[in-house]
Amino acid sequence: MENIKNAANLIEKGELVSFPTETVYGLGANACDSDAVLKIYQMKKRPDFNPLICHVAHQDAIADYAVLKDLDMLLAQAFWPGPMTLILDKKQNTKISDLVTAGLNTVGFRVPEHPTAHQLLSAVNCPIAAPSANVSGQISPTSFEHVEAAFSDAVYILNGEAPSVGIESTILRCHDQDVEILRPGSITKEMIEALIGRPCLERMSSNINAPGQMTSHYAPKAKLILNNAQNDSADGFIDFGGQFKSLPENIPYVDLSPEGDLSEAAKNLFATLHKLDKCASTIIVAKIPDHGIGIALNDRLKRAAAPKDDHAR
Ligand code: TXA
Ligand code: MG
Repeated sequence: MENIKNAANLIEKGELVSFPTETVYGLGANACDSDAVLKIYQMKKRPDFNPLICHVAHQDAIADYAVLKDLDMLLAQAFWPGPMTLILDKKQNTKISDLVTAGLNTVGFRVPEHPTAHQLLSAVNCPIAAPSANVSGQISPTSFEHVEAAFSDAVYILNGEAPSVGIESTILRCHDQDVEILRPGSITKEMIEALIGRPCLERMSSNINAPGQMTSHYAPKAKLILNNAQNDSADGFIDFGGQFKSLPENIPYVDLSPEGDLSEAAKNLFATLHKLDKCASTIIVAKIPDHGIGIALNDRLKRAAAPKDDHAR
């Protein structure tokens, strides 16, 4: 508890704290303090047009800042606390810094279920704005060590149990009776459609020019080759469900889930990219089924494999 107290004090003093969530580690600041939020953008080298997600301990805390409509409430009841972010209409004159929302009139909110995140959020009296705790465009962090490697001792890092999901939250925007998936995650299209009783909308807001939605993101230094495509210069392999047979010995190889379990694969994805990026320059990735959480896995892999100059767009 001592660590939580220290971390809460730092947040209230306008400093940054990195903390684990069930998805990835976040790099947090008081969402109502523009000077503190600015430090996030500087530390991550994040373009200032890319808005941040706010985190609170309980859904009730959102009412001061944003509006939850009926469909948002339905989703919140089903999936919070948990790995889902809702993009909501911002209330007028809210205390949330304009830097958090990058000037938009909407704001993202999430109620995490990770115990350490929940304890920290319960110990402060403000929402915590937190993107993933990595340098912008690089691989997302799923361990204390990943955050330490990115920022060394420039930021206080709370340690805690490993993220159980391993990929970032599903981001949703409700339009009257419809739900649009802005970023796929472990709360899947199938789960949302079963709840709302109608198909999700195809992504409409593709004009939001944000790095999480840019072609190149989550990018390792190594070149990734997807869908088990042949490449003679490969010096690393990422498998799923034991598809690669008779590989040469002593080549770095990780199976994201030997049993072919997509949730297990999601949990292992970023740690595997961090690990293989240290020792391989061309990595072949096995084909991953494109349903359920597989859609989110393929989304992250596609962005990780995209040519790096796309990131500059
Ligand atoms: O699981 C997660 O969501 C993690 C943990 C730390 O909570 N956070 C995370 O943050 O992934 P970040 O900054 O890496 O990704 C946030 C994404 C960005 O793609 C951003 O464009 C989008 O959320 N976003 C934030 N506010 C938005 C808004 N008002 N409208 C549309 N997109 C928004
Ligand atoms: Mg991120």
